[in-house]
Amino acid sequence: MSTATAAVLREMRWWDIEPVLELEHALFPDDAWSPGMFWSELAHARGPGATRRYVVAEDPATGRIVGYAGLAALGDLADVQTIAVSRDQWGGGLGSELLTDLLKHATAFECATVLLEVRVDNTRAQKLYERFGFEPIGFRRGYYQPGNVDALVMRLHVQEPGPASAEETETD
Ligand SMILES: CC(C)(COP(=O)(O)OP(=O)(O)OC[C@H]1O[C@@H](n2cnc3c(N)ncnc32)[C@H](O)[C@@H]1OP(=O)(O)O)[C@@H](O)C(=O)NCCC(=O)NCCS
Repeated sequence: MSTATAAVLREMRWWDIEPVLELEHALFPDDAWSPGMFWSELAHARGPGATRRYVVAEDPATGRIVGYAGLAALGDLADVQTIAVSRDQWGGGLGSELLTDLLKHATAFECATVLLEVRVDNTRAQKLYERFGFEPIGFRRGYYQPGNVDALVMRLHVQEPGPASAEETETD
């Protein structure tokens, strides 16, 4: 059963890696990220050349981390790297809040398109993404190892292309 949460979203910092890893192992037992992967992502999350947004959801009453998410920006493309919510909080809207935060930052990074990969058997996450307007655009075969599970690739356009990139400005 899910319980209502008043979790507060804030930037993920290095001291959050340990509690995030606990959730990571509980939610992705077969292919959990290593501590080094989080360290490496956070190394690109601050400063003028930042290309990452990592956010955690914290229960203000207990300080417990109940969710986290991360986005990488590469030129005008952004990629949802990870998103997860503690199982006891599912269905309370926290996944939507985390995704909203990532999409705001995709816009701040001036990305026109957001991509993500999701396991073909993860219908719960796919429904969340569809509600935000993500559309399936293809598959990556055997993307998730071990298990050789395919990824569904989904895409969302978050910004209209600027006039400089519109083809019609180059004709006539
Ligand atoms: C996928 C995941 C992040 C979704 O998180 P969540 O907090 O349950 O997401 P939300 O609550 O925002 O939305 C999920 C459901 O709750 C419903 N919901 C949203 N806000 C709600 C609210 N305020 N009250 C009640 N229900 C609500 C939604 O309608 C949605 O239902 P639906 O799936 O039938 O459409 C979570 O299930 C998770 O961590 N899964 C394991 C990790 C994972 O698979 N991550 C994705 C990898 S690609």
